[in-house]
Amino acid sequence: MLHVIILAAGQGKRMRSALPKVLHPIAGRPMLAHVIDAARSLNPASLIVVDGHGGDMVRAVFEKEPGLRFVRQAAQRGTGHAVAQALPELPATGQVLVLFGDVPLVRGSTLAQLHDLAKQPAQALTLLTTRVTNPQGYGRIVRNAAGQVRRIVEQADATATELAIDEINTGLLLADLVGLRRWLAAIQPNNQQGEYYLTDIVALAVAEGLAVSALQVDDATEVAGVNSRAQQAQAERIWQQRYAQQLLDEGVTLLDPNRLDVRGNLRCGTDVSIDVGCVFIGEVELGNQVRIGPYCTLRDTRVDDHAEIHAYSHLQQAQVGAHAQVGPYARLRPGTVLGAHSRVGNFVELKQTQLGEHSKANHLSYLGDATIGNHVNIGAGVITCNYDGSTKHHSHIGDHAFIGSDSQLIAPVSVGAGATLGAGTTLTQDAPAHALTLSRPRQTTVAGWLRSAHTHNDPPTE
Ligand code: UD1
Ligand code: CA
Repeated sequence: MLHVIILAAGQGKRMRSALPKVLHPIAGRPMLAHVIDAARSLNPASLIVVDGHGGDMVRAVFEKEPGLRFVRQAAQRGTGHAVAQALPELPATGQVLVLFGDVPLVRGSTLAQLHDLAKQPAQALTLLTTRVTNPQGYGRIVRNAAGQVRRIVEQADATATELAIDEINTGLLLADLVGLRRWLAAIQPNNQQGEYYLTDIVALAVAEGLAVSALQVDDATEVAGVNSRAQQAQAERIWQQRYAQQLLDEGVTLLDPNRLDVRGNLRCGTDVSIDVGCVFIGEVELGNQVRIGPYCTLRDTRVDDHAEIHAYSHLQQAQVGAHAQVGPYARLRPGTVLGAHSRVGNFVELKQTQLGEHSKANHLSYLGDATIGNHVNIGAGVITCNYDGSTKHHSHIGDHAFIGSDSQLIAPVSVGAGATLGAGTTLTQDAPAHALTLSRPRQTTVAGWLRSAHTHNDPPTE
């Protein structure tokens, strides 16, 4: 039986934050959520999070997670002490995988490899290590001349020779439960930091003559610890580069893989092209041959085949039909549904609005709570006045209608099919189908009328 303990009680002082460290996001999700995902991929018999600093906040975030148990470490007395808090929750025998809430990029496949190594032949203790060019801050793996792991020494306690070791402790390990109980009962806080180090169990297992093995991961970025904002930013980049690589492998064109941010899931059809600086949040789906221009933000949105989103557009909970053209500078708010071949141009905002097939709103409009038919032309500056100060009202515009520029539709109101609104119309009643409706006074000219002298632009003559 495999059990998982995730350590998440530390304050993360170096983050200089009111938020517990493990709640700081990587790719839009708390670091701890990524660790939980990796743990779950092994189908553990139990999954325990040791919380402490900001523990109530941590629990509030994960309270709906099924099968997760929390154990409180009231005072943070070290990683060994933290693991010991979870042991009463576990059965007498089995294996425990210890993960760190601040090592968020570890892959499930690596944990599975560690698990395999621990099984054959049964190891008392299996460590996950890696080699780095700069081991600063990490515990060092001390091996003997034969290359066998002897112990781990923390940065603060290491000699100059030990500091030069480039194989570091990732913190992640797999231990036999019986041995772990014995070793944790024996560790002492007699070190520079006065803490109960989990890492001290290695020397204890070795002293008992037990088998201690280590799996060295090739990709050190996978096990990078996050202790500061700078390391968080690095971890974010690593995660994003991984995601970008995956998209490239799937056949997506990224104009610059280093300038892409996905905070959620981005699913792409064939021959999708994404320009620089785009941010994808939540669940975003792009159909075949979709093109996304530079600096767009898409959140929980679907874009159908051949549609194009031009630069600086912002889409949230929107659906964009096939062959539609959006932007530049368009804003699609929640509930926007654009029909196939429709067109939404610059500085046009839509909310809870359906724009039918082949319909256009090309410039400077607000269309809210509206149903707009097919082949409709919305002129520049058209506004649906959907809000009367207390209630939202609906506008309905029939197929083939033409809404003249600078018109206001005072909702609730309806424009019939094929109707035309003259420019500048303030529509307070329904406009009948196939007719011209306009609300502005007729233009008149007063012949020979001149402004009085003092209103002339000429400078005063005195
Ligand atoms: C730890 C390891 C170090 C390793 C590094 C990898 C020890 C003693 N050191 O050092 O060998 O190279 O991780 O990133 O294990 N935590 C608790 N309770 C505590 C203390 C810590 O839950 O009392 C949690 C923290 O929230 C964190 C994790 O344990 O998620 C690691 O603690 P941290 O203080 O960051 O250890 P490092 O100094 O990074
Ligand atoms: Ca750490």
